[in-house]
Amino acid sequence: MRQKLVAGNWKMHGGLKANLQLLQGVLAGVADLKGMSVAVCVPFPYLAQAQSVLTGTPVAWGAQNLSEQPQGAFTGEVSAAMLNDFACKYVLVGHSERRAIYGETDALVAEKFAAALAAGLRPVLCVGETLAQRDAGQTIDVVSAQIEAVLKRVGVAAFADAVVAYEPVWAIGTGRTATAAQAQEVHAAIRAQIARADAKVAEGLQILYGGSMKPGNAVELLGMPDIDGGLIGGAALVAADFLAICRAAVQ
Ligand code: 13P
Repeated sequence: MRQKLVAGNWKMHGGLKANLQLLQGVLAGVADLKGMSVAVCVPFPYLAQAQSVLTGTPVAWGAQNLSEQPQGAFTGEVSAAMLNDFACKYVLVGHSERRAIYGETDALVAEKFAAALAAGLRPVLCVGETLAQRDAGQTIDVVSAQIEAVLKRVGVAAFADAVVAYEPVWAIGTGRTATAAQAQEVHAAIRAQIARADAKVAEGLQILYGGSMKPGNAVELLGMPDIDGGLIGGAALVAADFLAICRAAVQ
């Protein structure tokens, strides 16, 4: 049985005071959540705060991006080793906002994934189609090409130490969620793609859904056989909502 993982992606939100309240609110409700994992991916400047507040608690933390380079003259970049200095467990790679707004290509995302793995971090590889691609019937092709670029770079065994998040771009921050059936179809296709390379790795792979997941739709989404958790944006900024989604993962 795969354990469920509910991870918050705070995006570029927060501040020292608000973060502390949010983390304390989350911590107050996670103690009795057994058999699932919880994490928060915070902006770089707050990793020290996350480490200080969350060390010794059931909540793991991570970053939202990293450099594909190990070190050097790369102004503004943050390396995997730096994330390790703050004991990050996870790092998002290839979030659709990074792909669309900052021009991250499949090839760059694959390099970032490799850099994370090499440092012992657990990359959360984000994939997903735009609305135009879905309407054109290209969803599975797009997602499978995004996965393939990483598979080609690191090999299937690397996915034993990684997480995949399916986030349809049209569902992110829009209030428009994929139906449980729509999400399940893509999750099953992702698992089948990995299984063609290694059935055991595919069976153990956590595939999260992200895109307007809220307390009101989490139970149905998380009840699908290939949905192993959620990557939560907006609802992760409200402790009660985030906790409600976490509870939905222990059904
Ligand atoms: P929302 O939950 O705000 O739609 O964001 C999803 C997301 O992008 C998580 O990475």
